Amino acid sequence: MHNGAQMAWVGVSFCFLLIFIVRTSYCFTVFNNETVTVSNNLNFTALFNYTTNFNSTVSAGSTPTASAKQTTTAKPVVPTKKRPKDTADAGFSDEDMGGTDKDLETKDKDKTQELECPPLGLESLRVEDTQLQASSYQRMGLGPHRGRLNIQSGIEDGDLYDGAWCAQYEDLDQWLEVDARRPTLFTGVILQGRNSIWSWDWVHTYKVQLSNDSVYWKPCMNGTEEAVFEGNQDPETPVLGLLPVPTVARYIRINPQTWYENGTICLRAEVLGCPLPDPNNIYMWETVQGSKDDLDFRHHNYKEMRKLMKSVSDECPDITRIYSIGKSYEGLKLYVMEISDNPGKHELGEPEFRYVAGMHGNEALGRELVLNLMQYLCQQYKRGNQRVVRLVKDTRIHLLPSMNPDGHEGAYKKGSELAGWAMGRYTYEWIDLNSNFADLNNIMWDAQEMEQDKSKISNHYIPLPEYYTSEEAMVAPETRAVINWMQDIPFVLSANLHGGELVVTYPFDCTRDWAPREHTPTPDDSFFRWLAAVYASTNQVMANPDRRICHYEDFQRHNNIINGGDWHTVPGSMNDFSYLHTNCFEVTVELSCDKFPHASELPIEWENNKESLLVYMEQVHRGIKGVVRDKDTNAGIANAIIKVEDLDHHIRTADDGDYWRLLNPGEYKVTVVAEGYIPSVRRCHVGSEPRATICDFYLSKMLKQRLREILANGGKIPKDLQLRLRALRLRKLRATTKAINQRRARQRKARALRRSF
Ligand SMILES: *[C@@H]1O[C@H](CO)[C@@H](O)[C@H](O)[C@H]1NC(C)=O
Ligand SMILES: *[C@@H]1O[C@H](CO)[C@@H](O)[C@H](O)[C@H]1NC(C)=O
Ligand SMILES: *[C@@H]1O[C@H](CO)[C@@H](O)[C@H](O)[C@H]1NC(C)=O
Ligand SMILES: *[C@@H]1O[C@H](CO)[C@@H](O)[C@H](O)[C@H]1NC(C)=O
Ligand SMILES: *[C@@H]1O[C@H](CO)[C@@H](O)[C@H](O)[C@H]1NC(C)=O
Ligand SMILES: *[C@@H]1O[C@H](CO)[C@@H](O)[C@H](O)[C@H]1NC(C)=O
Ligand SMILES: *[C@@H]1O[C@H](CO)[C@@H](O)[C@H](O)[C@H]1NC(C)=O
Ligand SMILES: [Zn+2]
Repeated sequence: MHNGAQMAWVGVSFCFLLIFIVRTSYCFTVFNNETVTVSNNLNFTALFNYTTNFNSTVSAGSTPTASAKQTTTAKPVVPTKKRPKDTADAGFSDEDMGGTDKDLETKDKDKTQELECPPLGLESLRVEDTQLQASSYQRMGLGPHRGRLNIQSGIEDGDLYDGAWCAQYEDLDQWLEVDARRPTLFTGVILQGRNSIWSWDWVHTYKVQLSNDSVYWKPCMNGTEEAVFEGNQDPETPVLGLLPVPTVARYIRINPQTWYENGTICLRAEVLGCPLPDPNNIYMWETVQGSKDDLDFRHHNYKEMRKLMKSVSDECPDITRIYSIGKSYEGLKLYVMEISDNPGKHELGEPEFRYVAGMHGNEALGRELVLNLMQYLCQQYKRGNQRVVRLVKDTRIHLLPSMNPDGHEGAYKKGSELAGWAMGRYTYEWIDLNSNFADLNNIMWDAQEMEQDKSKISNHYIPLPEYYTSEEAMVAPETRAVINWMQDIPFVLSANLHGGELVVTYPFDCTRDWAPREHTPTPDDSFFRWLAAVYASTNQVMANPDRRICHYEDFQRHNNIINGGDWHTVPGSMNDFSYLHTNCFEVTVELSCDKFPHASELPIEWENNKESLLVYMEQVHRGIKGVVRDKDTNAGIANAIIKVEDLDHHIRTADDGDYWRLLNPGEYKVTVVAEGYIPSVRRCHVGSEPRATICDFYLSKMLKQRLREILANGGKIPKDLQLRLRALRLRKLRATTKAINQRRARQRKARALRRSF
């Protein structure tokens, strides 16, 4: 998620409008007026058919295995125990995979805080608003339903979406009550203060009471005394209070005793408890909460992630390859799993796809989903699942589960409940990677304003600015690594996975003229809306019309998709950079309200996202594709420009002359231009089936005589100066990156040496 206190200056009126909306049923969310009118040439009938007609037997071929045990019934959900430590290390052999093991040994010793029982789900929204009651509350926006761990307030105080439960009175009889709706072994409470830019409120100490009927309450005892728990010292840091004796009850109350002297009684909470068999069984909580897929559903730290990737690659050596694109500040490698029928090679005409997760290290769900995905693709490929086999054969897939491993290690150590909202978001150097890419938007827009003839301004492959390539530029090593990766591989489509909201955002993320929020479409808006809608309409939580909003914005009103700039401006975002600097189309997926869901939520989150992750990848096979060749020699022409009439964004051919131009169904007039060749024009038809139309081009060399004429008239042979500048700046970025990395490696060594004395 991209918001936070730093967004304080964003406009405010928006949040008020969203409360009561007429919701149509799930199936039709994509069809609502607004979407259709903006994406004029998009065939939503076809989308609906396409996104709902999948064989629901995708996983039926797989026999339910050991992991199906997680789906069952009335036994207490036992706390996730640590798996036995594998004794053998993953033992990666090549240079990329080795190297940092020593650093890791020490890190692995810092144990994640283990909680006795899983969270009931105040944060994850598994606990519904109606399960939360309070002695009193100041107003609706500070009602008991807002007393959820990590809930975020709108910008202003005073609306319906404030950042805590706040009692109306300041006395010792105030309480927040949670109805677990079934007998539960309560083991602890996690407390946090109020989320607000303007008000400071938190609870210093509190008592706990328990009840089976909400009439007779038993105080939580500590020996012979009533237990008094230590609460918060600031608004944001979550503090865990373990009950001295775990107690069975259905209801639990948090009863503040002292609070910040200049504030009032406000708190956000999570409750830890193991559900017990319910004799009355009135609520259907026992219904399946798991996944039939046999995947490694738990949070993986860096070392465990490596191990898992290694095991997938061992299991499917023919279709996988692990490589590293560079290192984090702390020297952790940015590993990528490649999945393709010919790993390690670009095949002529085969599009390249990537998922990037963990750009914000604390948004941990994306990382786990990407790890799930690589396991799933490997398993299903081996089982001959047609859809997966087709995907792997026709696509070169790259999965980067952790773009900010340093940040994740920090959040992981605190654990899913105690990491808070921001810990681990930034890199070691405190850089937010999603605004660390070069801001090419403003370079392009400025150029457009200076130049009368718009056709002279490049609308693609914008070079890095000079300042960005220097050693002193605040460009994170993680960003440098990803930019370098973007050059090496001709990516066509990507999504980066975030957390903390439920919405898919598409570029531009950066608004024009510095507006805090403003609809800022790209020339490819209709295709981007299609892409976003494909993910959002197949995600089981987003698509649920009855879902509660996460924090304070109702994205359901927009069918769970929104233009990035229309949410809040982000200069230097990865989506904008991909689009303006490379051929790649990229969107941001905000996967869940909870940035770091408890491990027990991972199977259901996989189920929520499985179809979306697959169907989104399949979108790389849309629009037109082909090869641009020299008519005489038949050789592919690299860097030829593919222009589509009326679309002010060009793309270029890759090294072998192949190209992919994502487009919605329709008729297009396509022109190909290459240095030293006569331009070529043809019409290409794109249908609604999920298959790219082949549109090849054969270009004739400009005749020597024609060139001489041009020169004689004082003209110049058209030179692709922009392309040269782009290459030059990239070389410079690579050189400075190398110098920086060498310097950091020396510093790390010196630090390690000092530590060992
Ligand atoms: C949908 O479109 C119809 C016809 O254009 C219009 O009358 C109606 O008000 C629109 N509904 C909404 C919710 O915008
Ligand atoms: C949408 O596609 C379907 C079949 O895929 C076709 O029957 C229908 O006419 C198309 N609608 C539009 C508006 O193009
Ligand atoms: C929907 O899909 C089915 C089967 O995949 C196909 O037979 C049918 O023509 C499609 N309909 C539309 C409107 O595209
Ligand atoms: C759907 O699944 C059935 C049974 O597994 C299979 O026979 C059929 O070919 C599948 N259809 C498609 C369109 O993949
Ligand atoms: C609730 O009922 C259970 C089982 O009857 C009992 O063990 C437990 O002590 C009761 N809890 C409270 C708080 O009364
Ligand atoms: C329980 O009592 C012990 C010993 O007096 C004390 O250290 C601890 O803080 C108490 N815990 C709670 C939750 O009251
Ligand atoms: C509370 O407010 C008073 C008066 O503004 C101030 O003097 C005092 O330092 C504040 N206390 C704390 C703990 O901030
Ligand atoms: Zn994020």
